Amino acid sequence: MVSGYGETIVVQGVNIDVAKGEIVVIIGPNGCGKSTLLKTIFGFVRSSSGRIYFKDDDITGAKPFDLVKKGMGFVPQTENVFANLKVMENLEMGGYTIKNPDFDEVFRIFPVLREKKNEKASSLSGGERQMLAMARTMMTRPDLLLMDEPSAGLAPKMVDVMMEKIKEIKNGGSSVLLVEQNAKSALRIADRGYIMVMGKNMFEGKADEILDHKEIGRLYLGKKEEGIKN
Ligand SMILES: Nc1ncnc2c1ncn2[C@@H]1O[C@H](COP(=O)(O)OP(=O)(O)OP(=O)(O)O)[C@@H](O)[C@H]1O
Ligand SMILES: [Mg+2]
Repeated sequence: MVSGYGETIVVQGVNIDVAKGEIVVIIGPNGCGKSTLLKTIFGFVRSSSGRIYFKDDDITGAKPFDLVKKGMGFVPQTENVFANLKVMENLEMGGYTIKNPDFDEVFRIFPVLREKKNEKASSLSGGERQMLAMARTMMTRPDLLLMDEPSAGLAPKMVDVMMEKIKEIKNGGSSVLLVEQNAKSALRIADRGYIMVMGKNMFEGKADEILDHKEIGRLYLGKKEEGIKN
């Protein structure tokens, strides 16, 4: 798939897939086009060539609203909650297309949101805010969740909490396409991964293989030692 902004091509030929029930992680340096790739899948950015398929249907060029109806959810990298609204109001917005929105599942995975449901989103910690962003998107019970750097800017402990939450989301029946800079933590919960460099996927493999891969670790994951497991 190829996409970009105006004349600028950012995603220069990416070929990826996510199978049902998988967590797939995309890792790559800043500016390589990870967010653009997710935005293209979700219909915010138009692809200029290539096709995108979801549940066996060609969804190339489909609009976000229709993709949500079809079972896709997107947690953007930034501005992913309504800061001035209460936690509960954010969740209600997330589920506004649903007839009888069910809050139990998101409160089960994110109990802190139940505790703070009457607080404004702006009063939440960074981690709680990311949880709210995920929870809002989960209100439509998506079969595939696209997540753009949910652990960015969080303390290491919180990063791992976030990854555990993503695993719970998967266990709840959603497939996940995750973009992450915290490569190690993400690969530990992922089934497979892709390394994206300058708009292309350069390497793909099982998450374990990537964690163990000497050259990938050194080149793209900032590790001098063998693999990146430790
Ligand atoms: N709305 C936009 N208009 C024009 N160019 C953009 C726009 N958004 C991103 N770009 C450019 O596209 C390229 C890829 O950006 P993108 O946000 O997809 O990268 P990324 O891999 O998600 O980076 P990061 O790791 O920093 O989040 C960058 O050169 C960026 O400047
Ligand atoms: Mg990005």
